[in-house]
Amino acid sequence: MNDFVRKPFIAGNWKMNLDRKGALELAQELRERLGARTDVEVAIFPPAVYIDELARTLAGSPIRVGGQDCCEATSGAFTGETSAPMMVDAGAELVILGHSERRHVYGETDEQVGQKVRQALDAGLDVILCVGELLEERKAGETEGVVSRQLRIGLGSVTAEEMQRLVVAYEPVWAIGTGETATPEQAGAVHSYIRGLVEGLFDAPIARALRIQYGGSVNSGNVVELMAVQDVDGALVGGASLSAEKFIPIFEFDLS
Ligand code: 13P
Repeated sequence: MNDFVRKPFIAGNWKMNLDRKGALELAQELRERLGARTDVEVAIFPPAVYIDELARTLAGSPIRVGGQDCCEATSGAFTGETSAPMMVDAGAELVILGHSERRHVYGETDEQVGQKVRQALDAGLDVILCVGELLEERKAGETEGVVSRQLRIGLGSVTAEEMQRLVVAYEPVWAIGTGETATPEQAGAVHSYIRGLVEGLFDAPIARALRIQYGGSVNSGNVVELMAVQDVDGALVGGASLSAEKFIPIFEFDLS
């Protein structure tokens, strides 16, 4: 059973959803419901164009606002991209990097993800680094190899001190948006593998302090069994973060 030596961290990745009005209404509902609660950390990741307004709307609340991606460069001829310093300017405090949709829809490489992690940390953003295997990789017994490669390269430039600003999200690609969730056993096995890897790359105290979120079809019906797993420290929620009705019961999960 999870004894929560690490503060649970529930994050909503809105992806390319909601309009300005819907985003503001949802943020306000979440703010009212969370109140001043600080026993669970909550963050939302709206589309980049809404970050500025949402960060101002949520100022003074414990809900943090982040970006869904950033460019691997600081500025220049990168049409369509947003740099990490620009995200900070807009009010973002953190950023999701290496999401499977970036890796598999937009062809982002492990090396690019590593460069983005460097950019984000240099700009002052905390990072959620996503890793996870495709279904065919799982079937071929390659889950650990894939996760290990993504982590080693993604964390390539990260110092021990910077690890305090980094969260890992394990998101098996086959469980994202499919309604199929990893079982608590499947999630637990990969989460403890990730913690062991980080211990090897850094040291035991850093690995113990690292928060590892699970992502992939998390909802109010499965959050308790997932959060009960010892090495699951939070959730990165997609579809079920798009309404207060679905997201609130997730961050109000109760293991008792
Ligand atoms: P779903 O919760 O919609 O499966 O999305 C998970 C995800 O990709 C979060 O980053």
